[in-house]
Amino acid sequence: MRKLFIGLGLLLLLIVSIPAFLLASGTTDSSTLRVLLNSMMGIAGPATNSDIVRQQYTVPEGFTLELYDGNVPRARFLLFTSAGDLLVSRPHSGDIVLLRRDTDGNGKPDDQLTLLEGLDRPLGMDISGEWLYVAESNRVSRIRFDSDTGTVDGSLQPVVEGLTDNGNHWSKTIRVGQDQRLYLAQGSTCNICEEEDTRRATLMRFQLDGSQPQIIATGLRNSVGFDWAPWNGALYATENGRDLLGDDLPPCELNQIEAGNFYGWPYFYGDNIADPDMGDDPLAAQREPTAPAHNFRAHNAPLGMTFLDAKTLPPDYERAALVALHGSWNRSSPDGYKVVSLHWSDDGIEERDFLTGFNREGTISGRPVDIAQGPDGAMYISDDYAGAIYRVRYGASDNNNAVAFELPTVKRLDAQEPEWLDAANMVTMAARGDELYRRYQCQSCHEQGENPRTLENLSERLGYAAVIDVLAAPPSPMPLFPLTESEQRELAVFLLWQPPESSDGDNNFL
Ligand code: HEC
Repeated sequence: MRKLFIGLGLLLLLIVSIPAFLLASGTTDSSTLRVLLNSMMGIAGPATNSDIVRQQYTVPEGFTLELYDGNVPRARFLLFTSAGDLLVSRPHSGDIVLLRRDTDGNGKPDDQLTLLEGLDRPLGMDISGEWLYVAESNRVSRIRFDSDTGTVDGSLQPVVEGLTDNGNHWSKTIRVGQDQRLYLAQGSTCNICEEEDTRRATLMRFQLDGSQPQIIATGLRNSVGFDWAPWNGALYATENGRDLLGDDLPPCELNQIEAGNFYGWPYFYGDNIADPDMGDDPLAAQREPTAPAHNFRAHNAPLGMTFLDAKTLPPDYERAALVALHGSWNRSSPDGYKVVSLHWSDDGIEERDFLTGFNREGTISGRPVDIAQGPDGAMYISDDYAGAIYRVRYGASDNNNAVAFELPTVKRLDAQEPEWLDAANMVTMAARGDELYRRYQCQSCHEQGENPRTLENLSERLGYAAVIDVLAAPPSPMPLFPLTESEQRELAVFLLWQPPESSDGDNNFL
């Protein structure tokens, strides 16, 4: 553990000191700096494990977080097959990995296989009919894919060739729309400039065979994620704002894409504010930018986004999407590094934290990239820093995937009572436990809310050691409380100990 922190510390030190050195030596401009930093931040971090995920990461009340697969180095984009296998693209390894669906219900994929390899920085994927579409950095191609068996047949057939991948934002995102067209998003070559290749920093649309290319939206600096709202079919895309305007400018954006619109870059940012470097350009005056539908905080780097199917979710997820905020590099203190949920209502779009805990006082343990909702209704999230896929599911859902959804009722009664139990002290300990229970508002989850996990009759399920284990390493979303060992014991006594018959017959402390 110590080594890990030293390693991370050194990495951060390097990241902070190199740009300072380059700036001091006057040998750089913003784009080399960015490329340098990007490639440095592309370095994978230490792997994660179930304990870190359970103890450090938080999801909203009622949701459960688990580590689905902790061994998918540099996992980027995600795509579910109709059979429930999960495809993961890994641009840095040039491959697409298939995680075999969890049929034995142990909360892990049954197998991990390489589906395609030797690719040129693949990112975007989609399935349409019997084709799997793959976007490498310089082309889009397709290959026959059998969703039932999770196997490919034949070789990749190019459908869009000759894409440029020079400069900064080389990755390509694709999706097939309800209109049976292939959509392609490409980022800019630079931080801020006029592009020579007019297809960069745009969203395009093609027929499924790659014919009839059409640029449908421009001025999108780097829209890595896009998706259609299921309730009205509107297309939304994330966009990374420019760098090097300080810690808090400009915002990153969510844009509602309408064909023909211009979204501002490089002349305008945020709510159509003129960019200090390019806002005076004569070309800027000829453009009418469309303002974002929502602003994220500066440098949070929204990447993948997905609208949710709310069938297995609480009512406030009826019109909602999840967005992965990969996190800042260009900020004095790191920001982002989480998954947020966006909630649409008549008042606009509200942003809320969904999965947090990757940034602990500047020490980074993960960077979310993409989200996909599985046929089981759970949400799967990729992390290219820890090389992991997380699974978030809502409560003890009673949907049809019973195996994967059943909450285990652990029964762990200790063979004997712990040696610290002292009959003479039980009443005092239970009273202190009662006080701690109220101080930390344990009742907020265990007695109140929609579906509280009741702690009544706990002694029929758990013994002292097991309760202390729960307090020392709580299951998400239960927080880790700053309890001393004796306070853990006091809480355990309060929850488990039944006082001998008292005069008024009331022997329930809860
Ligand atoms: C934010 C909500 C939340 C708070 C606050 C919270 N818990 Fe929990 N707790 C949970 C959840 C959720 C579970 C169990 C999830 C599951 O069963 O998988 C749990 C499980 C437990 C269990 C194990 C129960 C069992 O049946 O296995 C104990 C014991 C427990 N909590 C005690 C406490 C105590 C004591 C406090 C206050 C110091 C507390 N909890 C505060 C959410 C919370």
